[in-house]
Amino acid sequence: MKINDRLKKIGDLVDANSSILDIGCDHALLDIYLVKEGKVKKAVAADIKEGPLKNAKENIKKYNLEDKIDTRLGDGLDTYTDDINTVIVSGMGGRTIIGIFKYKPSIVKKINTIILSPNNYQEDVRRFFTSIGFYIEDESLVKEGKIIYQIIKLKRGKKKYTKKDYFFGPILFTKKDKLFKEYYKKELKSREIILELLPKNYRLRKYKVKKEIKLIKENI
Ligand SMILES: C[S@@+](CC[C@H](N)C(=O)[O-])C[C@H]1O[C@@H](n2cnc3c(N)ncnc32)[C@H](O)[C@@H]1O
Repeated sequence: MKINDRLKKIGDLVDANSSILDIGCDHALLDIYLVKEGKVKKAVAADIKEGPLKNAKENIKKYNLEDKIDTRLGDGLDTYTDDINTVIVSGMGGRTIIGIFKYKPSIVKKINTIILSPNNYQEDVRRFFTSIGFYIEDESLVKEGKIIYQIIKLKRGKKKYTKKDYFFGPILFTKKDKLFKEYYKKELKSREIILELLPKNYRLRKYKVKKEIKLIKENI
């Protein structure tokens, strides 16, 4: 089965024999792929909306995997059950992802592994998850069309991080591959444009953007 490079890269970070909950599964193609590859022993595809869950059910049926992939309608971690050890959330904004975990500490403490692909606010995502008892085990960048996506894999445990780690991603910074340079060249450009457009009295915002521009220039 062929899936796009973004979903494949997310799948690569899933540990063998995991039991996964894919929150915001939409089409459930990631879950179908992982079950077909024999990489996971259990998969739950969940979504808050009926339309996407219907797509998921149709795709699961198409691949004859109804007995291997559960589908659940619900909001975020409300669809979690104790047999899950890995939660995946991809294709949502960083702050939405944080919101899914922030108000459910009693469920979060049961989870060992979290794999995230936030569309934005990746620095906030790293800060939040490392503040609630996870460390960053792995990270990847993947290009799909013109967009480069970040994928962050977290495990239960503690590590110390610097501002630079939160901003660039500690593993992405160590790997510093071709996509890293491309990603941050774009980030630099967008910040330079923002700086030009910001009104004079936005001093604090300007200061923050200037600091980030300096950080990027010094490190790519
Ligand atoms: C852009 S799609 C991403 C689909 C897939 N995860 C991917 O990466 O290709 C986002 C999905 O998340 C679902 N969603 C948004 N907020 C959610 C929440 N709080 N709980 C469960 N699903 C949610 C939406 O209904 C939508 O189907």
